[in-house]
Amino acid sequence: MKKTVAAACIAAILTGCATTEKNETAADWTESAVSNAREQMAAMIDAIEADTTDQVLNPVTTKRNRFSTAWCGYADWRSGFFPGSMWYLYELTGDTALVPLAEKYTEAISEAQNLTWHHDIGFIINCSFGNGRRFVKKDEYDKVLVQAAKSLATRFRPAAGVIQSWNVTGNSWQSQRGWKCPVIIDNMMNLELLFEATKISGDSTFYNIAVDHANTTMREHFRPDGSCYHVIDYDPATGEVCHRQTAQGFADESAWSRGQAWAIYGYTMCYRETGDSKYLEQAIKTFDFMKNHPDMPADLVPYWDMSADDIPNEPRDVSSAAVIASALYELSTFPVDNAPAYKDYADKIMASLASPEYTAEPGTNGRFILKHSVGSIPHNSEIDVPLNYADYYYLEALKRKRDLEQQV
Ligand code: GLY
Repeated sequence: MKKTVAAACIAAILTGCATTEKNETAADWTESAVSNAREQMAAMIDAIEADTTDQVLNPVTTKRNRFSTAWCGYADWRSGFFPGSMWYLYELTGDTALVPLAEKYTEAISEAQNLTWHHDIGFIINCSFGNGRRFVKKDEYDKVLVQAAKSLATRFRPAAGVIQSWNVTGNSWQSQRGWKCPVIIDNMMNLELLFEATKISGDSTFYNIAVDHANTTMREHFRPDGSCYHVIDYDPATGEVCHRQTAQGFADESAWSRGQAWAIYGYTMCYRETGDSKYLEQAIKTFDFMKNHPDMPADLVPYWDMSADDIPNEPRDVSSAAVIASALYELSTFPVDNAPAYKDYADKIMASLASPEYTAEPGTNGRFILKHSVGSIPHNSEIDVPLNYADYYYLEALKRKRDLEQQV
């Protein structure tokens, strides 16, 4: 068996975790949250480093038995989240032992830069290489980002003004739905890669595609109440909308919570990158829909779909809560009315997520940090489980919170 590098590297990290005071006050729960994340991720690193196959294992969730880990390959939309979490853990702890490991896990998915058969290249490359370039190998990682943006740009359909999310060839479930050019709200998250690629390369093509996609999505995806559809299907030749539906939500007209979270985060990010206030207004409108929803639970962790028919007995989705919290920390830095209220709301979400209700005891939960997320109920997949993207956005939110509080 390979030497468990992480066990040695992370030993220093773990010292002290065992002595973390469990009866923390409100003021020190963030410290405890970081300690807990370290401990779980150190155990995950040990499992990866102990593997004797040639591949670098990439954790996404637990299997149906709730203990063994489900791993993914580089083309999976979730492959950038564990490497990205490593960079955030490094930032949160300052432990340089994490850097070579984060580099290794990042570079293990570099082939994703050439993917052209789905839209998730932004999630994959921006969360991994996009975070890593802030610390190491900037020129090398920048090349990966620009190549990934070129790959993503191949999916732009100019007549519709959108990046196509999924292919509909063969007998896939997407083609069985009769779609021609499906675009999911999640795709807003891929635009960050395009904005970055323009900043790196000076080529405005990427920026312009991102803005076109954001504008078309704003026009077609949203309802008057600020909530959004999951899937809009376009005719790629004319741009006509053919269908407004869902894939992962409860119903076509429902408010799938992670979709709302992607919209809030995506339009906040678009405002950061463009300065165009209509994006900020859209982010706030969708957030207000969630905040004011009569079925939003008191702990602010949404049900997987706010229109599901058995609330309050429906599963919660921690991943949605983590994405919204991270977005709100950023939103609170922009020129909006009552900006501190957005940070307060994010703080309340994060205090819930850091509580034992949602944070796993070290050594449990398949070594993931957070419990109780939902992948896709309509696909009967990943229901009430840990998910690597819930952990990623939680760590990002912890970092954003810390940065905001250090500024004051
Ligand atoms: N992008 C897929 C999801 O949010 O489940």
